[in-house]
Amino acid sequence: MSAIKQRLLNILRHSRQPLSGEHLSDRLGVSRVTVWKHVQALQALDYPIATSRRGYRLTAKEDVLQAWEFPGRETLIHCYREIDSTMNAARELAREGCPEFTVVTADRQQQGRGRMNRSWLSAAGGLYFTIVLRPALPAALASLTTFAAGVIWARLLAEAYGVKVGLKWPNDLLVDERKLSGMLSEMETRGDMVRFVNIGTGLNVNNDPTPEETRAVSLQQLTGRPRSRRRLLTHFLDRFEEYRNGSDFEGAIDDWKSFSVTLDRPVTIQTIHATLAGVARDVDETGALILELPDGRRRRVVHGDCFHE
Ligand code: BTN
Repeated sequence: MSAIKQRLLNILRHSRQPLSGEHLSDRLGVSRVTVWKHVQALQALDYPIATSRRGYRLTAKEDVLQAWEFPGRETLIHCYREIDSTMNAARELAREGCPEFTVVTADRQQQGRGRMNRSWLSAAGGLYFTIVLRPALPAALASLTTFAAGVIWARLLAEAYGVKVGLKWPNDLLVDERKLSGMLSEMETRGDMVRFVNIGTGLNVNNDPTPEETRAVSLQQLTGRPRSRRRLLTHFLDRFEEYRNGSDFEGAIDDWKSFSVTLDRPVTIQTIHATLAGVARDVDETGALILELPDGRRRRVVHGDCFHE
């Protein structure tokens, strides 16, 4: 973003009154026509700048996701207004060798993907992003990263928004059994080690889940007002980097268990091949669910959908 646009945005952000083109042209040292052109360019990026006879004013709380809105991370964040899926863009970047903590966000996704080959509806107002990680982990432990991401969200939502989130195996965020967020991970390996693992998060923030998404809920519905996706993402990334650099995901499973709403409950697990019913007894060090079957045998489930009874 050009320096002038950045300054223009800052001036508008700090004014409650509309500011005339003349006033802005004086402060920015450019012509009124140039001010007007920059205003138009910002409007085209979804900044809600109202124009009236009294001048220009930034209206409702704006929540634009653009790289320059993440100071210190500008080169790592790739923001799209619309994309097929942030997973695809992140995978390309990861294959090309992008640094760890590269992030792809989108305001809307045309082909958002969910777990188990489902699609993920991605209406405007939600937070949709994928983060690229390059942990020094054997492939069998790659899912620790997703468990850690769930823990970070649960802590952040409780501490900053007063929302008590439970984690459903393997990585859904639930509030009173309604889904606030889902996560999807994809990885590529080199030998038996992780080359990259990409974690995609879809969080219902200001989008109202549609009737098709029964049992879903948004942060706006839970807290009674719109919430800044920008702030949520910034806080998440700060905390996630800290967690990763501090513990290298070592304690992720134990941390996850402390927020789990799956353990010790009767569940049905739908895998690609079978439906299994039992009691969710534990999660092992790789993130696999230990299911106690009705005959008392224990079965290790590495992948599947979990339904709480
Ligand atoms: C699930 O609960 O099934 C996982 C949903 C993951 C959705 C996110 S939105 C951002 C990223 N891009 C995608 O296409 N999917 C993930």
